[in-house]
Amino acid sequence: MTNPKINELEEKEFWQKVRQEFMLDPQMTFFNTGTLGAMPRRVFERTVNHLRMTAEKIAEWDYYGPDWIAGYQPWTEIREKAARLINCEVKELALTENATAGMNYISNGLDLKAGDEVLGTDQEHPGGECGWKLAAKRHGVVYHQLHLGKPIKSPEEVIETFVKAMGPKTRVIAIPHLITGSGAILPVKEICAEARRRGIFTVIDGAQTVGHIKVDVKDLGCDAYYGSFHKWLCAPAGNGFLYVRKERAPEVWTTLASAQWDNHDDDGYRLSQRGTGNLSLLMGLDEALNFHFELGPERVYARIKQLGDYLRMRLQEVPGIKIFTPLHPQMASGITIYNIEGLTGNFIQDELWKRGRLRPRSMGEVYGVRQSTHIYNSKEEIDRTIAILKEISPKRR
Ligand SMILES: Cc1ncc(COP(=O)(O)O)c(C=O)c1O
Repeated sequence: MTNPKINELEEKEFWQKVRQEFMLDPQMTFFNTGTLGAMPRRVFERTVNHLRMTAEKIAEWDYYGPDWIAGYQPWTEIREKAARLINCEVKELALTENATAGMNYISNGLDLKAGDEVLGTDQEHPGGECGWKLAAKRHGVVYHQLHLGKPIKSPEEVIETFVKAMGPKTRVIAIPHLITGSGAILPVKEICAEARRRGIFTVIDGAQTVGHIKVDVKDLGCDAYYGSFHKWLCAPAGNGFLYVRKERAPEVWTTLASAQWDNHDDDGYRLSQRGTGNLSLLMGLDEALNFHFELGPERVYARIKQLGDYLRMRLQEVPGIKIFTPLHPQMASGITIYNIEGLTGNFIQDELWKRGRLRPRSMGEVYGVRQSTHIYNSKEEIDRTIAILKEISPKRR
């Protein structure tokens, strides 16, 4: 029989070793993966070595083999790895600069006309909503942002809101898989299933998901899904992707047209065209994918969820705490948003830094701070956070 105490110890030692793979200064604690992940040393070195090689040896580039720049070639091996991560075919996956690019490729790429309706939420990141706002202003598209709770209490509440709002004019549903400002994981699968029955195009903002929670686009049943690799997957900044289901890819015009603009044999390649790009960043992405697969995606997701659940449990000891992340077990993982009655996000952010060199991110006056717990974080760091929050709470006894 396995001894749970030994397992716990082994697990702790495993994650301590993983922490050593990162270059993060040990005097500081980084809790803001929701903005940008920290790179493991091997990702950094692969990127920088390639950049150096380009600077020194560019004269060796003879155009017979692979390019020394990104943006023109299909980079099939890297796309294959990324496709494996989200469970799609390689030809369904495009490499982009970030999530914002993915969203714009869909909002610009679909032929939408005045009066066509797009449904989103009232808790979007600009990188998830502004393409639709532009389409509204430019083409008369009607963009409705449905109200969701903060915190959301159950998946049913969200499903009901969307199903009720779908009507004959609804052409697109564009929603986040995981909301940046609350950490809520939305019931995307159920919403996509209903949308598909009605022929509505679904596009999911996965900026906060890959490397954080499991993403299986076939299981979700969405038509498009985009995200960033530089947050939870810890790739260098400037790496993202766009998935478009092959059956609906012909409906998406390319936004950045270059040599492959009309290549409908490989839509992922077609939508990856962006002119000269930095291949060193793509090498870094390749290494980040290797690192993630070597650690084991399921183990990574479980660790992140465990740390997030631990933080949310311990936060409840803080007098005056207000948690905006759902406490429903299926609806949250590594992002937690909270405030303390009488305080602001900037105040909490500054005190955690001054007193403990802990770095979450302020979300402003009302919503306090967002604390992202990734594989380089630990329970001890969460304990230190809680101790400071108790000290600064105006309601402390
Ligand atoms: C939900 C969501 N969508 C889109 C974005 C934009 O991502 P990027 O800046 O990588 O394009 C973010 C960034 O935080 C986000 O959280």
